[in-house]
Parts: sequence; structure tokens; C-alpha cells
Amino acid sequence: MSSAHLPECPIPIFTTVASYREWRRKAFDAKQTVGFVATMGALHEGHLALVKRSLAANDLTVLSIFVNPAQFAPHEDLATYPSTLPRDLESLSAMSLQVKVQGSNEPLTRTPSAVFLPTVSEMYPSGISQDVSLQKGTFVEVKGYGHQMEGQSRPTFLRGVATVVTKLFNAVEPTQTYFGQKDIQQALLLRRMTRDMLLSHPSPDKLHIVPTVRDPASSVALSSRNAYLTPREREVAAPVLHAALQIGKSAWQDGASKQDCVRQACALIMDMAEKLNAFDNEEKINVRLDYVEMNDTESFDVLPDNISRVQWDLEGSEREGRPVILSGAMWVGRTRLIDNIILGDTRKLGIIE
Ligand code: PAF
Repeated sequence: MSSAHLPECPIPIFTTVASYREWRRKAFDAKQTVGFVATMGALHEGHLALVKRSLAANDLTVLSIFVNPAQFAPHEDLATYPSTLPRDLESLSAMSLQVKVQGSNEPLTRTPSAVFLPTVSEMYPSGISQDVSLQKGTFVEVKGYGHQMEGQSRPTFLRGVATVVTKLFNAVEPTQTYFGQKDIQQALLLRRMTRDMLLSHPSPDKLHIVPTVRDPASSVALSSRNAYLTPREREVAAPVLHAALQIGKSAWQDGASKQDCVRQACALIMDMAEKLNAFDNEEKINVRLDYVEMNDTESFDVLPDNISRVQWDLEGSEREGRPVILSGAMWVGRTRLIDNIILGDTRKLGIIE
């Protein structure tokens, strides 16, 4: 979008890296910290929770909106991905947070400081094809960590994310950054990437993970793609994913093997799928389980089938106290939903409370 066609907004919007960098240079000179939230737009309360964390802990807060072609496979929903720019800018403009600052009795009111809204050619100067075999230019791959969980169903997704977030970090140069727990594999992989690439803006310990925000009535994890759900899909089918993960969690806590925990969680989704798929009228909903799995938070390896919580957490073992990811994905109509629960101490993953 050219700057001439941007909706009116009191927050400065930068569409080029060069113009943003001028602004960023002033923040460096003034020794101001910059918090950063990367998004693909269609903002919801989950994104706004990330922005609030950033406002609380940084002098300035920048949010990017960029729908990244490289993380969509050719058959996926790039063309129809929800886009609500005027509403996004309104929500951001309405945000403010009062913070206490050292040495002053008066609270300070912070608001979002800048929006980075680059075009595809700005982010991909060599061009970008969604077909990996046609891609040319530079890509970032976190080897060994992109083929499990989400990566198993979406083999090019995490490479696309690592690539665009490297570019965003290089452009934005954040002091701290905030990602949602809903995309736990993405967040942990990006932290590994910042470490492997020796990044300083942000450094790996400044990449924070913020708990998933859920719809209070249904516990469905908020996601921009939830906009695709019909009211009936949202009410009847979508909540089953979180309910299934809760069943898996209880079974794990009660001492069941990993295989049994996953089996119980999958059974709930498949039962619901069978019921809803069976209608031959407008009540029919196509529900399909993609996966439920339990993975090591360090290696992302799938846990062995027969292992139980006590064996995983064996006292004195190098795994002792290491949390496990219980995650899943399912299709409800044309919407792919994902969710996860961390089994164990979330603070060990730097998930802020
Ligand atoms: O989580 C998202 O919205 C995207 O994957 C991200 C991190 C903005 C990269 O495009």
C-alpha cells in the first residue's frame, strides 16, 4: 500500500525500511528502548496483550503488519488472509497504558509509538514465490526444528517465519520483542534463531513469550483465522481442541503414558468430528483432526510412546523439570485451528506471567 492510501492514524506509519531507520536512529540516540510486536494484522485481543506487555516495559513500542507470502504454501490462504487495516489502526490508536517510572511520582502514559507496514517488495527485494522450488535469494532455516508439530503439516511454514522475522528484526532493531504462546513452536524456534545468529536486537533473552489469550466463553485460543469460522463452527466445534488438550493434560498428570494421553485427546476430537460430519443438513460441520502430539521443548522431538510424567521428569536426569509441549491442530470447515498447553513450569520457557 502506498503512503497516500493509508488510513488516517495518529501513530506514525513507516512503509519503508529507510524511513523507519531514521526514526529508530533517534531512539538509539535518545537511549530509548524499543519493544516490538510482529503481526500479520487482523489484530485481536491476543495481539493487543503483546502490545500491552511492550508498553509496560519499553520507552517505545513498534508493531509491524506484514502478511508474509513465504510462510504460506501455494495451496494455503494467502489470498484470503483476513485484512482489517483501518480497524487495526483504530485499536492501536485507542491503546494507552499508565506506567510508574523511577524517580517520578507522576505515572507516565505510554501509547504505541510506530507502525511498520512494509510492502512485499520492500521485504523481499529479490522477489518471493510461495513455491519453494522457485524461490531465489536468501532464506533462514532453523535446521532440525522445523519439521515437527506445525512443521510436519506445514513443511515450509517455519522457514518462511524465520526468514521474515530475521528481516523484521534487522529492520526494526528491537530491544525486546513479544510473541504469543499460541504459536509456541514459532516462538521457541525464533529464540533459537536469535541465539544461533548472534543477534543483539533482540538478544535471545529479550524474546518474551506471552500466554495465549482465549475467548472467555469457549476457551478457544484467539487467532486472526478465527474470522473464517461461522457462528455455529465457533460455538460447537472449535472449543473441542482445547478441551481435548485438557484431557491429555489430566491424563499426563494422572500418570498415563504419552501414547495414552494423545489417544484420549484424539478420541474426543474424532468423536465430535463423527457427530458433526454425520448431519446431512445445515448443521453439518466438517471437522478433521490434523494432529495431537507431545514434544520436548528443547529438541522438539516427539516424546517416546511409553514414557509417563514420572519417567520424563526423572530426578537427577538432564530432563528433570523440563516442560513438555502438548499441542494440536484441527480443521473446522475451512479454518485450521491450533492450540497448545505447556506441561510443567512455563517460566522455564520464559513465558511471562
Ligand atoms: O505469528 C504471526 O503472526 C507470524 O507468523 C509472524 C510472526 C508475524 C511472522 O510473519
